[in-house]
This record gives sequence, C-alpha cells and structure tokens, in this order.
Amino acid sequence: MKVNKVYLGDCIEIMKSLPDKSIDLVFADPPFNIGIKYDTHNDNMPYEEYYKWSEKWIGEIGRLLKNNGTIYIAIGDEFAAEINIILKKAGFYFRNWITWYYTFGQNQRKKFNRAHTHILYFVKDKKQFTFNDKNIRIPSARQLIYKDKRANPIGKIPDDVWQFSRVCGTFKERIEKHPCQMPEDLLKLIIKASSNEGDLILDPFGGTGTTAMVAKRLKRNFITMEISEEYYNAILKRLDGKVAEIRKNKKVEFKEQITLFDAMRLSQKLR
Ligand SMILES: C[S@@+](CC[C@H](N)C(=O)[O-])C[C@H]1O[C@@H](n2cnc3c(N)ncnc32)[C@H](O)[C@@H]1O
Repeated sequence: MKVNKVYLGDCIEIMKSLPDKSIDLVFADPPFNIGIKYDTHNDNMPYEEYYKWSEKWIGEIGRLLKNNGTIYIAIGDEFAAEINIILKKAGFYFRNWITWYYTFGQNQRKKFNRAHTHILYFVKDKKQFTFNDKNIRIPSARQLIYKDKRANPIGKIPDDVWQFSRVCGTFKERIEKHPCQMPEDLLKLIIKASSNEGDLILDPFGGTGTTAMVAKRLKRNFITMEISEEYYNAILKRLDGKVAEIRKNKKVEFKEQITLFDAMRLSQKLR
C-alpha cells in the first residue's frame, strides 16, 4: 500500500481498496450535515441517509484499523449522540467525549453562541492501544499555583475540555475557499498522544489537509482523501510547502483573539 498519499474521490470507495488492519490512528472530521456550503458535498442529507452514510464510513474504518488502533471523530451537537452510538455498535470502546472549546463562535441573535465541537475518542481494543502520556503532559495547577509538594513533577495529562482557537476567516494560516479548517495544534495533541513515529494515520475527509500536514511534520505516515478536486489540489500544495499560493488572507497579519474570560475581565476593568 502506498503511504503519504492524498487520494481524490469518495472516501468509502477508496477505503474499500485498502488492506485490513493497516492503519494505526484515524482522525475524521466529517461534514456535520448542518448545511455548510462545500465545493461538491451536499451537507444537507435527510436524517436517515446521513445516519446510514456515517455507519458505512465508520464500518470501513473498523476494518482498516489495526487491533491496537485508535479513532477520533469531530462532530457537531446535531449528530454527536448518533455518531457515539454508531461507534459503539461498530465494536469500538469509548475512551473520552472531548469538548473542543474554540473560544468564540459565530454570533447568534436568538440563542447562545456555539463555541464548541465534540471529539469522540474510541479504541478498537479495550486494553491495547497507544497513549503516550509523557508526550502531552502540561504543568498542573498544583505545580504552578499551589506549589504543592504532592504535584507530579512531570505535569498532568490535559483535561477533556480543550481550548484552541478555531482558524477564523481572518487568520494568516487560513486556506482559501474551504469553509472549515481544523487548528494544527489540536491535531498535534491527538497525533502525539495516540501514535508513534512511523505509524500510519488516516483522515478520510481531508479538507485543507491539516491531519496530513501535522502527521508529516511529526514524522508519521499519512493517507488522506478528498472528494473535491479544488480542495484536493490545495492539500497537495499545502503538503508541498506552497502555502503562500493557497492562503486566504494574502496580506493580513495574524489577529490576536480574546476569549470570553478575557472579554469579561476587560469589561470589568473598563467599568
Ligand atoms: C469538515 S471538512 C474537513 C476539514 C479538515 N479537517 C481540515 O482541517 O481542513 C470535511 C471535508 O470532507 C470532504 N468530503 C465530503 N464527503 C466526502 C467523501 N465522501 N469522501 C471524501 N471527502 C469528502 C468535504 O469536501 C470537506 O472538504
């Protein structure tokens, strides 16, 4: 099987051509079926159709993952419960229901702004899977604030609420023409925790190629797929280091963004 490859086409058909038990880690960020405008994909399927389609691609992943393999799926509120059930029915074991808090969502008029996405973390075997805790530990409050002697000197494993800014339309790293792009730091955390150098990582919904890009940088092998030729070409350019050609904002500089908590602190200072 050829690795470090970007496929153009339907991920289910492409996955069918790959050998059983060949993949170490999957990160999937499928269309959430909430009416996002993609180049070719229809993000507005009837409920049953989306459910059955999700069963199909998750089923293929079940066949492709090695026995000690891991899967993470990013999904919105609308289908998080369904994807969780499909994963369980496909025989995967639940590890965490992670909340990615992306610090500010799009402004709403008649409800609270949404500022999170779910990331469902499952493994194929309950006991045997890769989890490199030492690669992802962070300083704990016991170490930093309380100077508690009982603090583990190597820090703590991050909580299941992750704070990374989403890649907003104004950001320097934003790739043009694609409506959703995952932050590289989020992929870095997943790949460091759940794979080793030389492992093979699959992302069936390539998008702008974030998973492949981070896998390559962290010396992992990758396979990714994208149904849109336009996005597929952008992934190839990103992997080839030609980011300047596909950047959405050719001139703007990175805009610092503030979190809700910063905003509350600021407003208290201003009063
Ligand atoms: C939510 S985006 C993924 C974004 C990606 N995580 C990133 O960081 O750029 C989902 C992508 O899946 C693609 N897609 C939809 N249906 C597909 C299919 N059947 N096979 C392959 N790709 C598909 C869409 O064109 C879209 O680019």
